[in-house]
Amino acid sequence: MDKFLITGPCKIKGQVSISGSKNAALPILASTLLFDKPVIIKNLPRVRDIDTMLNLLESLGSKIQFSKNKKIVKIYKTKKQKYFGSYSILKTMRAGILILGPLISKYHKSICSFPGGCVLNGNSGRPVNLHLNALKKIGMKYEIKKGYIHAKSNGKLKGTTIKFPKISVGATEQLIMSAVLAKGKTILKNSAIEPEIKDLTNFLKSAGANIKWIGKRTCQIIGVDTLSQTTYSVMGDRIETGTFCVAATLAKGNLIIRNFNPNVIQTELNILKKIGAKIKTSKDKIHIQGPQKIKSIRNITTREYDGFPTDLQPQFMVLLCKANGISSITENIFQGRFIHVMELQRLGAKITIKDSTAIIEGNVNLSGSEVMSSDLRASAALVLAGIVSKGKTIISRIYHLDRGYEKIENKLKKIGVKIKRLS
Ligand code: UD1
Repeated sequence: MDKFLITGPCKIKGQVSISGSKNAALPILASTLLFDKPVIIKNLPRVRDIDTMLNLLESLGSKIQFSKNKKIVKIYKTKKQKYFGSYSILKTMRAGILILGPLISKYHKSICSFPGGCVLNGNSGRPVNLHLNALKKIGMKYEIKKGYIHAKSNGKLKGTTIKFPKISVGATEQLIMSAVLAKGKTILKNSAIEPEIKDLTNFLKSAGANIKWIGKRTCQIIGVDTLSQTTYSVMGDRIETGTFCVAATLAKGNLIIRNFNPNVIQTELNILKKIGAKIKTSKDKIHIQGPQKIKSIRNITTREYDGFPTDLQPQFMVLLCKANGISSITENIFQGRFIHVMELQRLGAKITIKDSTAIIEGNVNLSGSEVMSSDLRASAALVLAGIVSKGKTIISRIYHLDRGYEKIENKLKKIGVKIKRLS
């Protein structure tokens, strides 16, 4: 298993180009199951979760054709359509469950394993009850047998009004995709409104879907008979962007971040400004300079968009280890998403957890050590910590990082980080 060796502290200077968003590309790829005509997707990030989704689509009978740099993919339907989402693929990635709605909507049958993915929710796992309950309301019937969801519908799904009892990114995406070819009108209330969901709806609209946001969290979908051929470019990755913003702030860096619309991460940029970063933005560029002294901040709280994202909580925690006082972060989305704290403590971080709040002591000297990645974003936090730790940090299990960050070591090397992949 590969490891990263980082020799710190490192200076950060230069430019970095942001890749396509993994979390936007995944539902877009799943929704290609709804099409009869070929679809071309551009700006795909080359990360493992995307390969997993493409493998899953291939296992269902889709034909995948890549451009030379593998950033553009053409997806065709074949006559060998299958309906089986296997455990061996779905156990590695939670977003695999997003094939369920499109399969039911288009083919009215599916057998799909419960998904895996990052363990972020303590003992409560990562449930899909919101997906299943909402799909049931538009006509899906299902039974659970030996870890598989055996689902079917009597012909087309039927539009109705659904109010999600809890805001969920995945369940919102699942229902939008399922409603696109359903009979009549579906109204989704209390929907997630993450930028990746807007990217999914823009993609589907580019193929003729009738989708309208009729309130802040209310999405209206009127079913159409078919979707037409389309070419679509996936939005930039806001979590990768946020991670690089933290790197620059943390290492007193001077960084230009390209290919990303800064409006999407205003909440994060405002926090970074508050703690001292100098930030200038233009249409698709962020210029960020880290301060000599990072100011502490209380009560960063993770929330659904347009709140502060849980996927940047571990990275911001590292930043606050270097602030000039005590800071706190409360995790509201995933119970127990603090596994990285133990590893950060190995590097010298002083963090205590009380319920869902982490209290972070600033002004600590971090020093290199051996640490282990536990999930995707926690791994990014360990890389950031390695950048400002004195000496050698060895991070194991970096396959987590490879799931979601495209060529991270190449990008970091270019801006001054001494990082090496040990195979
Ligand atoms: C997506 C993102 C993930 C991000 C998360 C929250 C992708 C591929 N992943 O995950 O990176 O951290 O949004 O922004 O886009 N829940 C239920 N029942 C369900 C579904 C969810 O109880 O059926 C709970 C979850 O356990 C969690 C909360 O709802 O506590 C939010 O989860 P959700 O928004 O669904 O996250 P994902 O779509 O899994």
